[in-house]
Amino acid sequence: MEKNIAVIKGDGIGPEVVSETMKVLDAVGQKYNHQFHYTQILMGGCSIDAYGEPLTDEALAIAKSSDAVLLGSIGGNTSTSPWYKLSPNKRPEAGLLKIRKELGLFANLRPAYLYPELADACPLKEATSAKGFDMIIVRELTGGLYFGERSTKEVNGELVAHDNLIYSESEIRRIAIKAFEIARVRRKKITSVDKANVLDSSRLWRKVVNEVAKDYPDVEVEHMLVDNSAMQLVANPSQFDVVLTENMFGDILSDEASMITGSIGMLSSASLREDKFGLYEPSGGSAPDIAGKNVANPIATILSGAMMLRYSFDLNKEADAIEQAVRDVLKEGYRTVDIYKDGDKKVSTSEMGDLIASRV
Ligand code: IPM
Ligand code: MG
Repeated sequence: MEKNIAVIKGDGIGPEVVSETMKVLDAVGQKYNHQFHYTQILMGGCSIDAYGEPLTDEALAIAKSSDAVLLGSIGGNTSTSPWYKLSPNKRPEAGLLKIRKELGLFANLRPAYLYPELADACPLKEATSAKGFDMIIVRELTGGLYFGERSTKEVNGELVAHDNLIYSESEIRRIAIKAFEIARVRRKKITSVDKANVLDSSRLWRKVVNEVAKDYPDVEVEHMLVDNSAMQLVANPSQFDVVLTENMFGDILSDEASMITGSIGMLSSASLREDKFGLYEPSGGSAPDIAGKNVANPIATILSGAMMLRYSFDLNKEADAIEQAVRDVLKEGYRTVDIYKDGDKKVSTSEMGDLIASRV
């Protein structure tokens, strides 16, 4: 099989973790006889430095015409980087929001599970309720607060800022359907997270989710308020299977969920639409403090590459091979510094990539 992949290495640790992922994809290509063609494009801070904007039309066009997009991370230190002196629609993050919207990627899947090998890295390791959890967050990605009209104006001598939180029934319905389809091939349980005790958008969310639920009588649905969900995620993470939620709540809860797996450096993510196209990126950020030091954990990005093979290219056995290689390397005791403890074999970013590629 031949596939064209648009590659956005981005900022911070992005270039390092993406290079390792390309190494692993090439190992898969060699073993299973596939050709992955990469076209690199700029997005985020590096694009601002080169072209004065976080995502050019040319780069967007290349992404649009590819079969899938692989992304590292974008952005820098929000208090010290010069990128953050620019207006919000010129900053690195604006590139990411634009590509998500322009490519129509409304469904963001963020799996979070605890590898038995990393049980000790889980901050909740003493709690039996945290044993062996395995959940997937299905986050709406192109609506809500992130895309509502916003402004900062002077009113009566002081600044007043507003951000609109808007959801339509159709936007809620299509992400709910995605979540129910995923629940069907998992443990058949959905927790829909909202703030329906306060927000109109959440009350609509709940109504639409209940309507969609009628078509999936085999899936159990519960509604949970977002504040309670944040608490339940640390109190009893193994109760969750599919967590369905809107854009901002999903952003926050997915960072929380990823940390209880031991490290945000382990969590992959896929942003999808109705067809096979997708953008694949680690759940974590650009980590500017450790960029360029060859210490970042590339596993989240490598596992995102596996998701790309599975969801966009239907290459399931190849995706399994990557996931198995990651488990093997962890079993053998290799750890990047974020998941390292005494007695483990400490490896760099590129050594971790080599190990996983060789186990494929
Ligand atoms: C994420 C990130 C982005 C988001 C930022 C960089 C705009 O935090 O993918 O979770 O909030 O969606
Ligand atoms: Mg986030």
